[in-house]
Amino acid sequence: MMSFKRMLLALALVVGCDKTAQETSVDPTIPTTVSDDGTVHDDLSMPAEPTLDPADFKSAQECVSCHPTHVEQWQSSAHAYAMVDPVYRVLVMQRQIDLGATEDQFCTQCHSSVGTRGGECVSGFSFEELSPIVQEGVTCESCHKISSVERMYNAGHTLDPTGPLRGGIEDPIDNAFHESAYSEDHKTSELCGSCHDVVETSGLELERPYEEWTTSPAALDGQVCQDCHMPAYDGQASVGGPDRTLHEHRWVGVDLPATEAFLADTEAVEAGRARIQELLEGSATLSLSADPAPPGEVVDLHVTLSNEIGAHNFPTGTTFIRQAWVEVIVSDAAGNVVYETGTLDANGDLRDHWSEVEPYGDKDLISLSSGFIDAYGNPEIFPWRATEHWLNALSPGYERTYTLFVPTSPDTVGPLQVVSRLRFRAFPPYLIRIVGLEGPVAEEKLHIYDLEDASMSVELR
Ligand code: HEC
Ligand code: HEC
Ligand code: HEC
Ligand code: HEC
Ligand code: HEC
Repeated sequence: MMSFKRMLLALALVVGCDKTAQETSVDPTIPTTVSDDGTVHDDLSMPAEPTLDPADFKSAQECVSCHPTHVEQWQSSAHAYAMVDPVYRVLVMQRQIDLGATEDQFCTQCHSSVGTRGGECVSGFSFEELSPIVQEGVTCESCHKISSVERMYNAGHTLDPTGPLRGGIEDPIDNAFHESAYSEDHKTSELCGSCHDVVETSGLELERPYEEWTTSPAALDGQVCQDCHMPAYDGQASVGGPDRTLHEHRWVGVDLPATEAFLADTEAVEAGRARIQELLEGSATLSLSADPAPPGEVVDLHVTLSNEIGAHNFPTGTTFIRQAWVEVIVSDAAGNVVYETGTLDANGDLRDHWSEVEPYGDKDLISLSSGFIDAYGNPEIFPWRATEHWLNALSPGYERTYTLFVPTSPDTVGPLQVVSRLRFRAFPPYLIRIVGLEGPVAEEKLHIYDLEDASMSVELR
């Protein structure tokens, strides 16, 4: 395999810089400005000059003595790893190369708002030189110093570096370490939406869970992100403080922290996987139907999926990285497989465009993932090189039926046995190979969760 550095260089040479194509698709609503040196800025979230001092932000370690549970839970969440995730780092480096370091604040504006607004994540920055508070990614104070939400995408909130720590407690008791203040914003989906909706500088929409939520049944019911991703429990907000309703700080999503140190703790991994499985199991249902057909004819097999989350798409977020798909295997009475879709190739990849061994080998594949297309209509992996983002996800509250045509021959002996399952994984093998990731982190990212299964038999008569 090509070394990673060489691969980056090769990619950089092929890509060049097609700025004209980029400019024509710029969405005027994205308030970016371009400096004389060609670097792209947004006064709020990617400022040309620092708007805050990282030294005003305290590490999560300074909260442990009074908020041990919050710190421990945060430590097991993706927020704590937002700047050290190896896949993230590789992709950021690729963007630095492709765009000639003109947009190096783009990815970091959310993954570390403190580093981006504090003048550490500047053109050509390297991860090794960032201070510890910036390496902490989405740390406690990245959320608890948010003083207002201005727009629901691209880190669209203001930070108040020296102000009180804001949260959802209306009557916080005093403490010697920090001032506290009640904040209505922390009770809303808008707080989350300010980072969770991601729009490229070209205007291309990458991740929109907040926007999906705004028109969902859950939003109409007054349900917010926190209700599912920060479930309530009883306890003390600070050691020795009054009993209160608290909010889990694990932010269970679809993958575990991507560090070898975390993954070495088998108990934590088991517990983490169980939480992901639990979240995923409730998100969608799968059902089958088919009519009998004579041997030699095609059996129409209907596969119905429905989004049971009701709050955002299934899947949502980084749908261009995630894989959610249906595996269907049909066998005859003797157990011979007569039809299959959604099964994996020798590399563990789905047999779509990205398969190295059987590209386009699975024409019927039912996949809910999204993908990018470049200016020439070719599939593309990196969003900043793409001009189009096509989605396949199920909208909240909706169901969709796919019809598969299962061929039989006059000799096929029925009944046919149909076995299917809805499967999910955070990362596909081809992407792991492209970013050159190996070892336990790569293995964890490839873990497949089975959400639902359905089976039936179909008479041949
Ligand atoms: C991604 C944003 C985010 C991060 C990161 C975060 N919090 Fe919170 N925190 C919240 C929100 C939102 C609430 C309020 C939830 C509500 O009231 O509905 C909250 C509530 C709290 C509360 C009040 C008690 C409770 O559970 O409701 C404390 C204390 C707290 N957080 C401490 C911390 C500490 C310590 C860290 C870092 C280890 C941290 N938070 C990291 C978003 C965050
Ligand atoms: C010396 C102890 C102490 C330390 C250290 C400490 N806190 Fe607190 N914090 C408290 C107390 C006490 C409360 C109020 C708890 C209550 O009323 O139930 C509180 C409340 C909070 C709240 C809720 C504010 C509100 O009104 O909703 C947040 C958020 C918070 N702390 C974050 C942090 C963060 C982040 C750190 C670390 C940078 C930290 N705290 C360090 C003692 C501490
Ligand atoms: C009714 C419960 C519910 C609410 C409310 C909710 N979610 Fe989710 N969320 C889920 C479930 C279930 C999943 C797992 C299935 C999936 O990925 O779509 C999930 C997954 C996610 C993921 C991981 C997606 C991935 O595959 O990478 C993110 C990010 C997320 N939610 C953000 C949000 C945000 C932001 C909001 C508020 C605007 C929100 N969620 C509101 C239930 C909920
Ligand atoms: C300051 C920006 C920021 C804010 C505010 C924020 N997030 Fe996040 N969140 C992130 C980033 C960045 C990641 C991905 C970290 C990584 O894996 O590299 C993430 C990851 C997550 C995940 C895990 C997704 C997965 O695939 O496993 C969930 C769930 C989540 N956030 C929910 C929330 C909720 C709910 C809120 C509001 C209370 C919120 N976040 C507020 C930036 C933010
Ligand atoms: C607007 C805020 C924002 C910007 C800008 C942003 N991200 Fe993220 N990123 C997030 C959030 C939120 C998540 C979690 C969503 C999810 O898991 O579905 C995330 C998740 C990720 C993940 C998945 C981590 C994992 O292991 O599952 C990677 C990789 C990543 N981002 C890379 C990047 C790169 C590279 C860029 C720049 C091209 C970038 N991000 C720009 C907010 C942002």
